[in-house]
Amino acid sequence: MLHLISLKDWPAKLIAEVLTLADAIKQHPPRYARAMTGRTLLMIFEKPSLRTRISFETGATQMGGHAIYYDMGTSPLGAGKENVADTARVISRYVDLVMARLFEHAQLVELARCANVPVINALTNFSHPTQVLADLMTIREKKGRLAGLKLAYLGDGNNNVTHSLLLGCAKMGVSIRVACPAGRGYSPLPAVVRDAEAFARQSGAQVWITHRPAEAARGADVVYTDSWMSYHIAPAKLRERTRRFQPYQVNTALMKCAAPDAIFMNCLPALRGYEQTAAVLDSPQSVVFDQAENRLHVHKAIMLRLLKETIRGKK
Ligand code: CP
Ligand code: NVA
Repeated sequence: MLHLISLKDWPAKLIAEVLTLADAIKQHPPRYARAMTGRTLLMIFEKPSLRTRISFETGATQMGGHAIYYDMGTSPLGAGKENVADTARVISRYVDLVMARLFEHAQLVELARCANVPVINALTNFSHPTQVLADLMTIREKKGRLAGLKLAYLGDGNNNVTHSLLLGCAKMGVSIRVACPAGRGYSPLPAVVRDAEAFARQSGAQVWITHRPAEAARGADVVYTDSWMSYHIAPAKLRERTRRFQPYQVNTALMKCAAPDAIFMNCLPALRGYEQTAAVLDSPQSVVFDQAENRLHVHKAIMLRLLKETIRGKK
């Protein structure tokens, strides 16, 4: 059973296949108008969402399928009345696909282990693979290629998007430099960095973790940042985190270190004046809304690719 839990498990060839399918879906949506007929996607949410929720639900509808929004807070699982394994076994009897946005990554892994249908990671505290597939699609669309490019990530390194970017970029030959404050709570998990380095050796890319933002940004084709206050971070940490991350803010001076035709990306939601200035977010270099749109196309491609696998499996 093919799931999308982490990009670590997805070969570069499979990533490329899904990106190409997403491009085709974006160019010719009517060709896919019945591709999910009779199929149901269950979407379990333990955290807030705008883009992921709306794009998956719209994507399923546009392809003739049906999506169910399920608030974890209203489930027996969320109420502590039912375990993950039993939940997975029950929902597998009803739906064709499951996507879940959970706090604990281990819980998602358990859900996938016990489900008989494909499971999609719609963000955990640890990773956000659907986002990074849309990011890779966007970068390729803007730059015409992936291999050989340089991406600079600034800010919170101990972050789900950062982890998935490290893996996705390294697999696809994009060199990635992460500039973040020193300390375990701010740096990417060492195991992810080791995995990314191993993938980069195969693809010819480089992985570099630094505490110097201007060095990371120098000559970059893509400058990327994410919230300093991810959904799972307690609001009480705002003041301390703002102080720690301030030197890593993407502002006009920082963008000048990048290549002249560099694009600026943020998975959104974004706070102007925090991880980037308004001048950068609203500049012509910013592609954040194209990036958000591509979530729709790439999510359709992910669903079709995973469903194709189940049809094959049932034969
Ligand atoms: N980028 C992203 O996943 O956005 P949402 O939290 O709104 O889904
Ligand atoms: N790192 C962010 C990503 C939001 C899409 C968070 O987890 O809130």
